[in-house]
Amino acid sequence: MTKTKLFSPGPVIVTDDVRNSLLHYDICHRGVEFEDMYERLRGKINRLFRADDSYFSVVVSGSGTASNETVLSSIVGEGESVMLIRNGVFGEKLLEIINNYGISLVDVPFEWAQTPDLGVIEKAIADHPDISVVAMVYHETSTGMINPVAEVGSLCEKYGKVYFVDCVSALGGEAVDLAAQKITIATSVGGKCVGAFPGSAYICAKENLLERVRPEQGRTVYLNLGKHYREAKSRSQTPNTPNVTLFWALDQAIGNILDEGIDARIARYKKCAAMLREGLRSLGLELLLHDEENMSNTVTSAFLPSGTDLKSFILCLESKGYTVYEGKGKYQEQGMFQVANMGDLCERDCAEFISALDGVLKEIAG
Ligand SMILES: Cc1ncc(COP(=O)(O)O)c(C=O)c1O
Repeated sequence: MTKTKLFSPGPVIVTDDVRNSLLHYDICHRGVEFEDMYERLRGKINRLFRADDSYFSVVVSGSGTASNETVLSSIVGEGESVMLIRNGVFGEKLLEIINNYGISLVDVPFEWAQTPDLGVIEKAIADHPDISVVAMVYHETSTGMINPVAEVGSLCEKYGKVYFVDCVSALGGEAVDLAAQKITIATSVGGKCVGAFPGSAYICAKENLLERVRPEQGRTVYLNLGKHYREAKSRSQTPNTPNVTLFWALDQAIGNILDEGIDARIARYKKCAAMLREGLRSLGLELLLHDEENMSNTVTSAFLPSGTDLKSFILCLESKGYTVYEGKGKYQEQGMFQVANMGDLCERDCAEFISALDGVLKEIAG
C-alpha cells in the first residue's frame, strides 16, 4: 500500500513536531512531570476554546464519543431531561448515547442539512420546564454544516439551561468561543482540526457546573465527569491510567495552533476549503450545501455525476494517492463523498488534489 494524502475528516496528517512528540521518553503518570504537563495542556485547551477563567478542562483517554458520553452520562440529574437539537449523523450519535443511558429526552429533529429553526427550538424549551440541558453539534461533520451555535446559546441563557455543544469537528477550524457563545460545556478531540492523533478527547466546562456534578450521579465508572474534574482539580491527575503518549502530541498540536494564532489557523482552513469548493464546482460537481454562511471551513460534501459508482471512485482516488470519505446514510446512496481539509494540508495540496480528481473523474467515465 502507498501512503495517501488524507482529505478525510479525521484522522488527519500531522506535522513532524506532533509525530515526534510521541517519542518522548517514558514517564509515570503518577508523578510531577505528568502533572505539570497536564496542567499546561489543560490551560492550552481553555485558550483554544476561548474560555475565560470560569471554565475548566479535563482530558479523557478515548475518542470523541468518549467525551460526549462522559458529558451526557454525567450531567443530567434525576427527574431532568436533555433536549437534543439534531440534523445529521452526529446528532443521531448523541441520540444513541442519550437513549442507551435511558436519559429523559425532548427530541427536536430536523432534516439532515436543514438549519435548525430557532422558533421551534424556543417553543420546545419553553414547553418543557424539565429540560436542564440543551445539546447540539457545532459542526455536523456528516454534511459539513455549521449550526446556529450562538443563537441557541442566547436561548439557553434566556431560559437558564446548561448548553452542551459537541465541538469534535469544530475546534481549531471554526470560531469557537465558549464565553461569547454562552456554551456551558463542550467536547473536542485531537485527531481533527487540531492536528493531533485520534484517541485523545477533552471537555471544557463552566467550573460552577463541574462543582455540581457529583461522581455518584455519573452513570459509568470510567466516563465519569465528576471523577475527572475532582482528580484534575485536587491533584492535576486523571482517575484512571491516561494514554500519556497522546497527551504529549495533543500538547504539541494545540501549542502549534496557539503559536500560529487561532484566527490565522482558521483563515488557512477557510482558504483551503474555498479552493476545494471552487475546484469541485469547476469540475461540474454539485455541492450538498449552497449557502456559504453555514458551510464549515473544513468539510465539503459533493455529489458524483449520476451513474458513477461511489466505491470505485474512492478506490481510484486512493490509487492516485488521496483519501476521501463516502457520504453516510441516504447520501451514500446518492453518490455523495466528502473532502476535508483538516490537519497539515496546504493550498498546493488542494490544487494537486483537484487536478487528481479531474483525472479520476475522466478515467472512471471511460
Ligand atoms: C461532530 C462529531 N461528533 C462526534 C464524533 C465521534 O467521534 P469519534 O469517532 O472520535 O468517537 C465525530 C466523528 O467524526 C464527529 O464528527
